[in-house]
Amino acid sequence: MITVETVAGLREQIARLREARKRIAFVPTMGNLHTGHVRLMQEARQRAQAVVASVYVNPLQFGQGEDFDSYPRTPSHDKVVLLSAGVDLLFKPAESEMTPRGKTTRTFVEVLGLSDDLCGAFRPGHFRGVTTVVNRLFNLVTPDVAVFGKKDYQQLLLIRLMTDDLGLPVEIIGVDTVREPDGLALSSRNSYLSPDERKTAPRLYETLCRLRDRVLREGMHLAAAEENAVIDLQADGFRPDYVKIRRQSDLQLPGSEDRRLVALAAAWLGRTRLIDNVEFDLK
Ligand code: PAJ
Repeated sequence: MITVETVAGLREQIARLREARKRIAFVPTMGNLHTGHVRLMQEARQRAQAVVASVYVNPLQFGQGEDFDSYPRTPSHDKVVLLSAGVDLLFKPAESEMTPRGKTTRTFVEVLGLSDDLCGAFRPGHFRGVTTVVNRLFNLVTPDVAVFGKKDYQQLLLIRLMTDDLGLPVEIIGVDTVREPDGLALSSRNSYLSPDERKTAPRLYETLCRLRDRVLREGMHLAAAEENAVIDLQADGFRPDYVKIRRQSDLQLPGSEDRRLVALAAAWLGRTRLIDNVEFDLK
């Protein structure tokens, strides 16, 4: 695996891959890699001859008072994981390479509307930071295909919309969420949980599965199912930001014709904000 830390170094390596006519698959990450990330790299491997990964904790997507400083940075661990996942090229830029004018940029890419909904309503500017950096990474890496997790369902959809709106020649692939045996979605932020919180954390996924079953098996109305899920989470000690049922295709409110739905939730457990989602189809 070749590691590059500068934009110039990256461009040189990408040019080589292009000369060798290799199809490039790209997996952007913020490091602290786990099995969820590895699944994305495996998917990338199946879709191209060259796999490029990036590790960059992007300041633009962290709000004031959020965990940018404490976000786990584990470079040696990440290297081992990337090597064993068969990644060919790692882009690990220094801050100055990505935001040359300090922790700011003059140019943002923002998908209007959906960026301020769901998680965006609770994390102002977060998705603008995500789409801005992913667009920059796409411009630098010039991938044919890029792989993202469904764990961050809204992020995946926003990247699809951005790619579509800007006419970027990148195919976007979504990969199912990888979970612990007890159902908790793998996340770098799980390391913030205390042992007691860790025991409670799988209830978020359980609650979403119960919500799905209430709708599918008991025919419960969507709004009632959302409300019950909020009450269930509160009873388990979570502080929910939201529980919402939306259309899979665009995360808009489902109409009576819509069949393919997704239940999404964000909830605090102590100082940790957890997100998860469950897709389901009405008959
Ligand atoms: P990060 O949280 O490191 O996640 C990188 C990728 O891994 C994302 O596509 C995310 O959805 C995926 N992922 C995380 N946990 C997963 C799990 N349990 N199962 C499957 N996939 C999982 O998401 C980001 O970084 C950043 O916002 C980024 C896109 C890199 C832009 O800065």
